[in-house]
Amino acid sequence: MFSMSRIKDLHVIQKLEEIIGRWFQLDLVLTDEFGKLPSHETAGFKYYSYFFKMLMSSQQGRQVLQEDIEKGIFALRESGLKSVDFHTSFPFVKSIISVVSFDGGIIGYVVGFCYTNGLFTNEDSQKVVQKLMQVGFLVEEADLCVKKLSKLEIIQGEYLKELIILYAEEVTTYQEEIVKREQMINDLHSEVANKYRYHQMIGKSQRMQEIYKLLEKIATTESTILIQGENGTGKELVAKAIHYNSPRKDKIFLAQNCSAFNDNLLDSELFGHVKGSFTGAIKDKKGLFETADGGTLFLDEIGDTTLSMQVKLLRILQEGTFLPVGATTPKKVNVRIIAATNKPLKEMIAKGEFREDLYYRINVINVTLPALRDRREDIPLLMEEYLERKCKEKNIELKTYSKKTLEKMMDYTWPGNIRELTNEVERLVVLAGDEKLITPDMISPKIIDKVGGINATSVSSIPGVNINGKMKEALEELEALMIKEGLKRCNFNKSRLSKELDISRASLIMKVDKYGLDKRIKKVS
Ligand SMILES: Nc1ncnc2c1ncn2[C@@H]1O[C@H](COP(=O)(O)OP(=O)(O)OP(=O)(O)O)[C@@H](O)[C@H]1O
Ligand SMILES: [Mg+2]
Repeated sequence: MFSMSRIKDLHVIQKLEEIIGRWFQLDLVLTDEFGKLPSHETAGFKYYSYFFKMLMSSQQGRQVLQEDIEKGIFALRESGLKSVDFHTSFPFVKSIISVVSFDGGIIGYVVGFCYTNGLFTNEDSQKVVQKLMQVGFLVEEADLCVKKLSKLEIIQGEYLKELIILYAEEVTTYQEEIVKREQMINDLHSEVANKYRYHQMIGKSQRMQEIYKLLEKIATTESTILIQGENGTGKELVAKAIHYNSPRKDKIFLAQNCSAFNDNLLDSELFGHVKGSFTGAIKDKKGLFETADGGTLFLDEIGDTTLSMQVKLLRILQEGTFLPVGATTPKKVNVRIIAATNKPLKEMIAKGEFREDLYYRINVINVTLPALRDRREDIPLLMEEYLERKCKEKNIELKTYSKKTLEKMMDYTWPGNIRELTNEVERLVVLAGDEKLITPDMISPKIIDKVGGINATSVSSIPGVNINGKMKEALEELEALMIKEGLKRCNFNKSRLSKELDISRASLIMKVDKYGLDKRIKKVS
């Protein structure tokens, strides 16, 4: 848990070792929480005790010392004290042990090995010599050991105990310091890391930092928010971040694409209906506002709403109540509205396409997201993130971009913003096949063409894709991506998209079903 060599460098520890060494001719050993004797090389002793030095230098001697530590730990447990002296494997020879605790647990032991008291006789010393010889020492060596054995008076023993407890406390203080510093480093680290992300959002650019700050500020407000930005700039992601950072986070987040509304069924969709209120109303149905009660209703593509829808929205925003179709009593709900659009609402107001009063109702707080080309420094970060995600999703080894690939991608203007970038990364992962390195020749011709450079025809040979099996998968992935993008572009109008893609409507519907792409209403709760 702690670094022995670093502890030994501490001034106080060095001083204590020196005092104990000089006064008592003893060396202190710091063990781990299991009482393991440190190795000869790592212990860093100056060796004030000849007896201990000799034992440490032989394998058998070290084994005896290890057994003695276990005896000491046992004696400590029995006593319930912080520090005790105990009998070693050598007759009349004692050692002293103290526990090092931290945060309610044991993290190690300090042991001062081998001393005896002033009453040690010649006869006693013979017994110790014999034991030393059993451990493998020659008689002369054993004699010298005993002769140099530290002999302590009772009062000295008491001082020693106090000093050893002090030593153990110093180690604890040091440990506390380390934990505090680690905490500080972790805090700093997460502060730095946070600057690169906010919820699911990534970006370290100044523009994104400002967005994060704004989102943090509005986290606890209940105000209506309007999110503006080009296609694929992350409007929905921001809406979710606001919801999941708000007191409503445990309630529903209901996303509704406003362009998908059919004016005939508008009232019923927004406010619900009661059974029998019109042909086809076979049972009561909750409308969007009721479903979202307590949570957040995300009105996406608010710029695509018809004027009649705008009137209805305005009314509910002003009054907070609504009347389900066929009902006689109005309902009241508590819903937070977040709206988003890529349309220039102000211009639409001037042209009479969007109601000014609704605009001011929803635009209480405005979040305008920057285009990706206006925060280019985030491109590599986003590319890395999505590469990692896509490789993980596909359960394949992480690929890397060549430097040139990164450069080419940074040069492009990304009209489809992050969505276009994520699609391109997915495409690159598919096209790279077994290749680990993603090279510029794999980049979409449209990107390369726009930035100048490689001719589009060079992509007709695609590296890394072979004819068996994988080609089919790659094509299917591209097909799914094209349909997914197309659906958004055409506001889920399948007739329009089938014309654009030059396939039959029936075939498009089958494919939408196959790839599970028909998801206009997304419920996240
Ligand atoms: N800052 C970001 N960091 C990481 N991923 C992002 C970021 N912004 C957007 N994305 C990703 O880009 C894609 C598009 O984001 P989102 O759907 O939120 O954009 P949008 O503005 O709502 O697009 P549209 O106008 O087309 O509806 C999503 O996959 C989203 O996860
Ligand atoms: Mg969106």
